[in-house]
Amino acid sequence: MIKKVTYGIIAVLVIMQFIRPSRNEAAGPFEKDIAKQFPMNKEVETALQKSCYDCHSNQTQYPWYSMIQPLGWWLQHHVDEGKEHLNFHEFLSYSPKKQDHKLEEIEEAVRDGWMPLDSYSWIHKDAVLNENEKAAIMTWVKESRQKVQPFDKTQGGKEEKTHEDHQE
Ligand code: HEC
Repeated sequence: MIKKVTYGIIAVLVIMQFIRPSRNEAAGPFEKDIAKQFPMNKEVETALQKSCYDCHSNQTQYPWYSMIQPLGWWLQHHVDEGKEHLNFHEFLSYSPKKQDHKLEEIEEAVRDGWMPLDSYSWIHKDAVLNENEKAAIMTWVKESRQKVQPFDKTQGGKEEKTHEDHQE
């Protein structure tokens, strides 16, 4: 009985390895890249790339263990979900209102430290932003919000949720 169960588990694990999630590795260049309208200095660019781009862009740098299922599925779920909420490579496809809102959320996420996700910074120690990087991002957010195209601040707003609504 135990032998059968063990073989069963091994078989399932082996089969799982063949079911690979699709990978987030587009080549670019990206027409709607955030930096086209909201240019950033090297410090901000480097900080966002190392701490955020794995889940919020079209280019994820996959660790070796992403090849092992179900770890790979779990990672891909974070990438898919992160990208859906915020994609730096597609940022200019958002309406001005949404851009402004996302910038505001970036500021909050960085200031309050709820991004990058704990499960990520736990493994990627270098993804944790230091005070200088945080300050540089804050300044960039502030400048960028001035550059958002004008929009009617009183209108709508229903489609926008705050991050509290979809925290897992
Ligand atoms: C390991 C993947 C991962 C990393 C790395 C990551 N995020 Fe996220 N992020 C997510 C996921 C998943 C969500 C959606 C669920 C949630 O809000 O918790 C999200 C949501 C957000 C949101 C909310 C967007 C919205 O409007 O709902 C912002 C803003 C954000 N992230 C900013 C950042 C910033 C800035 C960084 C880098 C400092 C970063 N994230 C790093 C996965 C990640």
